[in-house]
Amino acid sequence: MSDVLIERKGGLLSLRFNRPEKKNAITQDMYLVLADALENLDPSVRVVKFSGEGGCFTAGNDLKDFLAAPPADTNHPTIRFIKLLPKVPVPMVAQVEGPAVGIGTTLLLHCDLVVAATNASFAVPFVKLGLVPEAASSHLLPKLMGYQRAASMLLLGDTVDAVMAERFGLVTHLVEAAALSETAERLVHKLLSLPPAALRATKKLMHVDPVPQMDAELMVFVERLKSEEFKEAATAFLEKRAPDFSRF
Ligand code: COA
Repeated sequence: MSDVLIERKGGLLSLRFNRPEKKNAITQDMYLVLADALENLDPSVRVVKFSGEGGCFTAGNDLKDFLAAPPADTNHPTIRFIKLLPKVPVPMVAQVEGPAVGIGTTLLLHCDLVVAATNASFAVPFVKLGLVPEAASSHLLPKLMGYQRAASMLLLGDTVDAVMAERFGLVTHLVEAAALSETAERLVHKLLSLPPAALRATKKLMHVDPVPQMDAELMVFVERLKSEEFKEAATAFLEKRAPDFSRF
């Protein structure tokens, strides 16, 4: 079974993270599949939906992968995927259950609608990992929720629950877990019933190009991945111990 389930149903392209035993942490192979799917979007696709298998959205980048093969250039699947997000011309819907960590949360900043279950949680713990934000989240998160709220998430790495996330504007539709897929389906159907060219044009008009910010972030991010701080943080996570930053 593939780690990303791709399903085409009418005008909907559904991308489902399917690595539940690792909390849907995204490997390079998965980024490759996701980037290919977004890059080769069929013109008849009217909506893209992201979701995760096993009661979890995604635990973000696979830390083992990041230690073994950190992204170094723009052809790396992680970078390709991130840079494709703002280029998707059709509405993107996220269906979020359980943890959404790192790219699991920053991806949502590029989605048009975010449907979340009450058990969803959101975190961008880049600093704790010795890293910096990606996917233009250093710009989009403060713009969305205000500087101090974004600072508590980005500097402290605070996890935000679904109720707070809705209050902060990150979640557009908050529902009980039992109603999650039905609500997302209803919204997808609504989007599919709207005039597609007007939807695309409106999305384009609302869009402010985040790519320059992404580039600025990536220059630092790629350097941080080589740092001893990141190595200590990621190794500590995989070894199930607290990181020790006292020597830095
Ligand atoms: N990279 C690699 N492996 C990961 C992972 C990640 N980002 N997130 C989870 N896993 C693995 C764990 O190592 C564990 O593997 P094991 O069963 O072989 O020991 C398995 O997935 C289950 O994770 P666990 O931490 O036991 O689940 P949990 O329900 O207690 O916690 C999370 C879930 C998402 C809160 C927690 O896994 C987490 O914080 N993950 C790291 C998030 C992160 O820092 N992401 C990177 C952002 S750049």
